[in-house]
Amino acid sequence: MAKSVLVLNGPNLNMLGLREPQIYGTDTLAHIEALVAEEAERLGLAVECRQSNHEGQLIDWIQQAHGEHHGIIINPGAYSHTSLAIHDALKAVGLPVLEVHLSNIFKREAFRHHSYVSLVAVGVICGLGATGYRLALQALNEKL
Ligand code: DQA
Repeated sequence: MAKSVLVLNGPNLNMLGLREPQIYGTDTLAHIEALVAEEAERLGLAVECRQSNHEGQLIDWIQQAHGEHHGIIINPGAYSHTSLAIHDALKAVGLPVLEVHLSNIFKREAFRHHSYVSLVAVGVICGLGATGYRLALQALNEKL
């Protein structure tokens, strides 16, 4: 049976395309999810993509991934820098996690330089836009 990956996007990522295009580019989330689906098919992975602006919803999906998915790719948006609860949920389910950021968070404001999620991630990809999600799928595929 195909290994399954959950791809989560956090707050404000539903605004991609419109949101600060000089930082995040002009790709919409729908376009990124289509790229993810294409890459997953190429790799023989099953994939489920979800987005929420709500921390608790993201935590519910992370918890539900236990027994349903084999790995998680997450762009937690601003929750990366604030959410100990998302950190704890990812740690609790114990699945391999790849963290993705469209922008290079280290070239930006100091408050974006720390991520609670990085502490529980196998790896972090940032600054490569939509390509980061494709690379994360490839990396996770090698881990699974
Ligand atoms: C982001 C970077 C975060 O600092 C920011 O809050 C986001 C998007 C990125 O993909 O570059 O919402 O995660």
